[in-house]
Amino acid sequence: MLQDNNDIMEKMMIKARAHSNIALVKYWGKKNIALNTPAVGSISLCLEALYTETGVLFDPELERDELVLNGRPATEKERNRVSAFLDIIRRESGMKQAARVESANNFPTAAGLASSASAFAALALAASRAAGMNPDGQSLSVLARMGSGSAARSLFGGFVEMHRGEREDGRDAFAEPLYSADYWPLHVIIAITSEASKKTGSTDGMELSRRTSPYYKAWVDSSEEDLAAMRGALAGRDFQKMAEISEYSCLKMHALAMASNPGLIYWNADTLELLHWVRALREKGTPAFFTIDAGPQLKIICPPEHSAAIVEKLSGHPAVKRTIVSALGPDARILGA
Ligand code: DP6
Repeated sequence: MLQDNNDIMEKMMIKARAHSNIALVKYWGKKNIALNTPAVGSISLCLEALYTETGVLFDPELERDELVLNGRPATEKERNRVSAFLDIIRRESGMKQAARVESANNFPTAAGLASSASAFAALALAASRAAGMNPDGQSLSVLARMGSGSAARSLFGGFVEMHRGEREDGRDAFAEPLYSADYWPLHVIIAITSEASKKTGSTDGMELSRRTSPYYKAWVDSSEEDLAAMRGALAGRDFQKMAEISEYSCLKMHALAMASNPGLIYWNADTLELLHWVRALREKGTPAFFTIDAGPQLKIICPPEHSAAIVEKLSGHPAVKRTIVSALGPDARILGA
């Protein structure tokens, strides 16, 4: 009997899958904290190998939202963040019921890769559908952004641009696809240097930078130029140019974070070691470049035909615990539809 009930629940739960992404031109800093609008636009790649699947069921029997993460009940902090997001969905849809949310990543959370990007993109898609909404890509991206800035980009496959927008209400701060994954097949190698969880998450880190880093204004003022240069590199499939702009944006973001007070240092010694390693590799003729987010892992981008050789070289490197290789991924989607 219980099994039957579970089956019915299973059937009614709306499930979505969204892939993780990494930014080539970085997002760091918010314009409006309540709306979670970014101070700068960003450009990212969708990662096929890393994704989150989330199921949502609005249920009149529930008194409050329930959240299960990777098979375990979530902490109160995690539940509150998801509940605050579900409140937005309830406000927009008129749905009055609490929801049961089950979310799981296909990658180990301990690796510091548990990005809020795929999580909130999958949640936005599944929850809006479960609440009877059918938003277009743009409105869905606005919704996902209110959960997490990078999640606005995770709704789309391939190469994606997030606009910072100009409107007070944040309606023009959304992401949209630039090119699909097959426009320019690339591989992303994630070199894991540490499995420890980070001390300062990006939400708190970027707010600290906005308040205290003397470089913040220069960061915001120079962002449009980087986005335009990256659009140009993508339009011409110019790998060298893409490498230069991407490393520049990454190092500029980390310099901004390091100049916060107290300084935010997301790297460890191995991150720095590998960064030099990738540059040396490129100087010797291998097309590859790095990017680093708010953690110590190094992401290496290269054409697919070079990834096996790079992984082979990395596997003997003492700075690398393990590697994950990903091609570029597809749009987020409803599962079983
Ligand atoms: C360094 O999207 O995690 O990865 O909007 O506060 O949830 P919130 O921040 P989040 O920040 C991502 C920062 C980054 C750069 C990037 O992905 O663009």
